[in-house]
Amino acid sequence: MAYDLLLRAVTVVDGSGAGPYIADVAVGGDRIRAIGNLAGQAAQRVIHGNGRYLMPGFIDVHTHDDTNVIDNPQMLAKISQGVTTVIVGNCGISASPVSLPGIPPDPLNLLGTQEAFVYPTFQHYVDAVERACPSVNVAALIGHTALRANVMTQFDRPAAAEELVQMCTALQGALEAGAIGLSSGLAYTNAKQAPVSELQPLVDIVGAYGSLYTTHMRNEHDGVLESLAESFSTARLAGADLVISHLKCAGAGNWGRAPLVLAALEKAAGEQACNCDCYPYACSSTTLDAWRVDGTMEIYITWSDPYPQMARQTLKEIAAQWGVDQWQATERLRPAGAIYSMMSEDDVRTILAHPLSMIGSDGLPADPNPHPRLWGTFPRVLAHYCRDLQLFTLAEAVRKMTGMPAARFRLQDRGVVRVGAFADLTLVDMTRIEDVATYSDPCRQAPGIDLVVVNGAVSYENGQVSGRQGRLLKRQPVASNPLPG
Ligand code: ZN
Ligand code: CU
Repeated sequence: MAYDLLLRAVTVVDGSGAGPYIADVAVGGDRIRAIGNLAGQAAQRVIHGNGRYLMPGFIDVHTHDDTNVIDNPQMLAKISQGVTTVIVGNCGISASPVSLPGIPPDPLNLLGTQEAFVYPTFQHYVDAVERACPSVNVAALIGHTALRANVMTQFDRPAAAEELVQMCTALQGALEAGAIGLSSGLAYTNAKQAPVSELQPLVDIVGAYGSLYTTHMRNEHDGVLESLAESFSTARLAGADLVISHLKCAGAGNWGRAPLVLAALEKAAGEQACNCDCYPYACSSTTLDAWRVDGTMEIYITWSDPYPQMARQTLKEIAAQWGVDQWQATERLRPAGAIYSMMSEDDVRTILAHPLSMIGSDGLPADPNPHPRLWGTFPRVLAHYCRDLQLFTLAEAVRKMTGMPAARFRLQDRGVVRVGAFADLTLVDMTRIEDVATYSDPCRQAPGIDLVVVNGAVSYENGQVSGRQGRLLKRQPVASNPLPG
């Protein structure tokens, strides 16, 4: 039998955390068919390893690509990094199931204007993704703020009992239709007033479906430990798997606490299924909001609806030009987006290196001046943190981007190089890979990602998208009593 694709003498890093080994890998249809010494075997196409590494395609566990996978199905920013699956719907923000009566409330506006929200049910979203056929696979969380926006017009209060019932019904419908879990963004003004008693019934549903809860916590600053405790408790009571989104120690007064925060995560992980995700940068990026402004931290404006011409300057510079303080400038600029210098590099490294952390870009594709994490996250982990700084072994770096996320998000037969698994693969030249996306020039394709295969189809090579075979990955029904792991 001739295979479709044969990768000869590649150094396999299989995603499990095991050390690299040299082998031939054969692909037929959408699966990996054979691994080993395949001398004498034929294939439609043969590619020689020449010292390059074959890894499972990366799983970007934290994205805001909900509408982007439909509007820009080439998904160049992601597939060019070797990403083959994106998890959308993080931080309480999802494109479905949402019908908006007016302009999208912050931070739903990170996904686009009101016209972007045309998926009143999750099934509408599934159909749109399948019609668009993006180059990468998509698995979707449902956002708590999105559920609120569906039934509430004012967000500075808890959901009323009847509103909560509607939110629960919408969530349940979405899970039935294949959504993989729930996300929250409790730090944001429009979700902050949701008490635990609003979250718990929603997370309970997620638990009953054997799926997961991810949370951009209420407080990543001085209240980070209390917020972690709240997240652990909510998920544990529900029997839901938990992912703490972009774990960090935010704000200069909070720097140096990464070991404390990780100790709390480790302790919880002894009792319940939980992990965190993180991006490999010391600056964060999201909408501009007055409570985030402290007058000293550098804040770089990436977009502003009323003053688009003020983008690409710091808030301090803008305030000086206008002769106002930074809070007044913030109010004038909003709705707006910003990059915040709010973490210490030491904390970033400590969290990145921890065995419970996975990699998620948190890239913002709708931002005209995006944070470089949108294009650079995975090359930066491989080139800068793994190869150059040796923060972790290559096997561990790859596990954080493949095997661990596939297990936590229950993406069956993905995130691993194994016979029978889906052929989602990335061929990397570790001598050439470089982290080239920067704050001043963020939309740069990394060199060294030589070939990307999605569901068996060569989908990226020579720096270009060459195929679009991504699928919508639905929640896998689980056997009873699946928890914890
Ligand atoms: Zn977030
Ligand atoms: Cu996010």
